[in-house]
Amino acid sequence: YRIMLLNGPNLNLLGQREPDIYGSETLSHIEGNLRHRAEAVGVTLDCRQSNAEHELIEWIHEAAGSKVDFIIINPAAYTHTSIALRDALAGVKIPFIEVHLSNIHAREVFRRHSYLAELAVGVICGFGAQGYELALQAAVSKLQQHQS
Ligand code: DQA
Repeated sequence: YRIMLLNGPNLNLLGQREPDIYGSETLSHIEGNLRHRAEAVGVTLDCRQSNAEHELIEWIHEAAGSKVDFIIINPAAYTHTSIALRDALAGVKIPFIEVHLSNIHAREVFRRHSYLAELAVGVICGFGAQGYELALQAAVSKLQQHQS
């Protein structure tokens, strides 16, 4: 299987960015750990991060062309603003899981709404970097479920 991991704006700053909220692990550490876990179960994980909405959208389009089976996405602030990102995911029809490090429901009111969640297979939030591991596990079992 092929899984694409997408991280949105400001997540390149993980480790130094509000560590009380987002933890002290860097994104490259999270990606390395996840790639390792993916390899162990025979999955190819393509990890990308961008601060630009259009780039994330292009990558979602590209995922469809390159036969990506599943997307794990932390859309960061675009969660709460981007109809374009929602439309891109709806357009390619690739199943996806939405991940947030923080519990977006326990913070400012404007973080409670997600434009993507309704279309997601599921949403994982509040578990810090472990949320990505949980998402990978869930994605792999969904894919295996579909195969049998
Ligand atoms: C976030 C939550 C968003 O509200 C915020 O804009 C982020 C990170 C999280 O992972 O907790 O940048 O997606």
